[in-house]
Amino acid sequence: MTYPTEGTPALVRGGDVVIIGGGLVGLACAAALSARGADITIVADHHPGEASRAAAGMLAPGVERADGAAHTFAIAARDLYPSYVEALAEVTGTIVPVNRDGVLELFFEEREADARRTAPIDGQRWLTRAELHSMEPAIGEAVSAIFYSNDGSVDNVVLMRVLRELVEASSTVTIVQDHVTALDLENERPLVHLASGRTMIGSTVVLAAGAWSGGVGGLPRPLPVEPVRGQMLALAATPVRHVTYGPHGYVVPRGGAHTVVGATMEHVGFEVGITSEGMNALAEAANRIAPSFASARVLERWSGLRPVTPDLLPIIGPDPEYPPLLYACGHSRNGILLGPLTGECIAAIASGEAPGLDLSPFSVARFSGLQITVN
Ligand code: GLY
Repeated sequence: MTYPTEGTPALVRGGDVVIIGGGLVGLACAAALSARGADITIVADHHPGEASRAAAGMLAPGVERADGAAHTFAIAARDLYPSYVEALAEVTGTIVPVNRDGVLELFFEEREADARRTAPIDGQRWLTRAELHSMEPAIGEAVSAIFYSNDGSVDNVVLMRVLRELVEASSTVTIVQDHVTALDLENERPLVHLASGRTMIGSTVVLAAGAWSGGVGGLPRPLPVEPVRGQMLALAATPVRHVTYGPHGYVVPRGGAHTVVGATMEHVGFEVGITSEGMNALAEAANRIAPSFASARVLERWSGLRPVTPDLLPIIGPDPEYPPLLYACGHSRNGILLGPLTGECIAAIASGEAPGLDLSPFSVARFSGLQITVN
């Protein structure tokens, strides 16, 4: 459904829920809400460097590990993927490629490996150098590895395309291309002011604007979400079959034909683009993992802006002082992993239901010492 741009009054109904952000999290919220019959408007702004398409598509709660309830949420998010993409395929006819072949974390010195010998997690297995080489003969000098047998990756570019198709086809979702200038949270129903001059009214507003979330005017509190640039590179070779992390980067085989290499962590504000230092660092990281990457042709170079919080955990759930405002942002290094489950939880909360998972590690109140309960 497209939005009429002419003849619209200044104040327009955004439906039950206005979602700010058309990235993976915003689309996943819209898809889950639409499945519950809600009327939704997505306000999507285009920004260079949006993380959802730039990401490598990692489903790696083993290597990129959180603690306690946040780890439980990450495992549930990973395990949602097979049924999630199956449901998408039933509606759209497109199968989003998901790889659950396992993820390798390599160690190049015994002391690095010893530092990682903490409490084992589900599906984790240590590999000797010999076992590693029989699994991945192209791996270089690594002395040992952890194999996270249930982890993997998803083709996030295809996922984004399919989710967008799904919500565009939904009769209850309207997508508006506009820029949110400010929220007005003075009344029971939130108002969303747009750069086009219109103001949208909804029962609930979901803030899912990725790295740009903290810049929305009128928020009830400062939101500590910062852009952190990740430079990426695609190489025309697939010497390694598994998603593999080395100490300075990772490689993600895609589609049997190329490998995505990532990623730098750079605090450069909203500056997108690549640098020769960044590209050299990625090439070295890939070559350390498997020396044969050194002769692979570079297919593409790009960068994206991760929405990063101080503790690398997302912000999911209602504002403690203004519950019609729901946060779904700050997914840091795990937006692709956590996006679909975030959408399901936000849809439950917006519908007055329990999210079914402990969201307390993700409360915005952790940054201000306020208490909040989501039932
Ligand atoms: N999770 C991978 C990254 O953020 O680079």
